[in-house]
Amino acid sequence: MKRVAIIGAGGFAREVAWLISDINAVTPAIDLVCHLVSDLDHATGPHTGGMVIHDFSWLEENQSKVDGLVMGIGTPSTKFRLVTELRSRFPEKTWPNLIHPSVLFDAGSTRFGMGVVLCAGSIATVNTFFDDFAMVNLKCTIGHESTIGPYSVLNPTVNISGNVTLGEQVLVGTGAQALQNLRIGSRATIGAGSVVTKDVPDGLTVAGVPAKPLHKT
Ligand SMILES: CC(C)(COP(=O)(O)OP(=O)(O)OC[C@H]1O[C@@H](n2cnc3c(N)ncnc32)[C@H](O)[C@@H]1OP(=O)(O)O)[C@@H](O)C(=O)NCCC(=O)NCCS
Repeated sequence: MKRVAIIGAGGFAREVAWLISDINAVTPAIDLVCHLVSDLDHATGPHTGGMVIHDFSWLEENQSKVDGLVMGIGTPSTKFRLVTELRSRFPEKTWPNLIHPSVLFDAGSTRFGMGVVLCAGSIATVNTFFDDFAMVNLKCTIGHESTIGPYSVLNPTVNISGNVTLGEQVLVGTGAQALQNLRIGSRATIGAGSVVTKDVPDGLTVAGVPAKPLHKT
């Protein structure tokens, strides 16, 4: 059994705990030791499995109790910040991939970095690539030759068509869709329910059908 700590204890972190229990129901593989929360974060809600420890330095004194870390935070920029800090402080810890048993993908052509989380009901077809710390929430589809870039997040029920490349730290809101052959730039945000029909430049927020740059009134 690999002993892991989930980073975070909020809503998504508790969903990751559920994901681990579903993986273990098929093949017992992961022992959830605890949730680790930075002393600046405020966890809310009941947690499932493992105690909540409000200080990363706990890991310095308890190195032998944890083999790997799993990211339980769904905001790309926060993920990037915390993973960078934790990899620097604890370089020997591994970042296992967590793939729900219901996820469908072509085992022969799908590629994975590390720390990838794929939640229940998602489907990736052929020649897809999930780069380091990519996260795909419930019931998403990812078409052929598509890449989900480092630290990028697909919220539930997103549809990514074929040959779409997401850069680093992209956030795709719930139910959004991207048409085929597009590039979505690093740190871009796609609003919930949007349909992306054109390339999106780095750092831009787009929303609507078709998706356009978001102008606040
Ligand atoms: C696009 C998004 C990031 C914008 O957030 P924001 O910068 O805080 O924007 P605001 O909420 O202030 O809204 C600004 C304007 O854009 C509109 N807008 C916001 N999100 C929109 C969307 N997804 N589609 C269309 N219009 C949207 C608002 O109605 C508002 O319009 P108004 O100025 O005419 O009143 C956010 O609304 C969003 O969709 N996030 C994804 C959320 C998600 O996936 N949640 C699930 C978590 S599991």
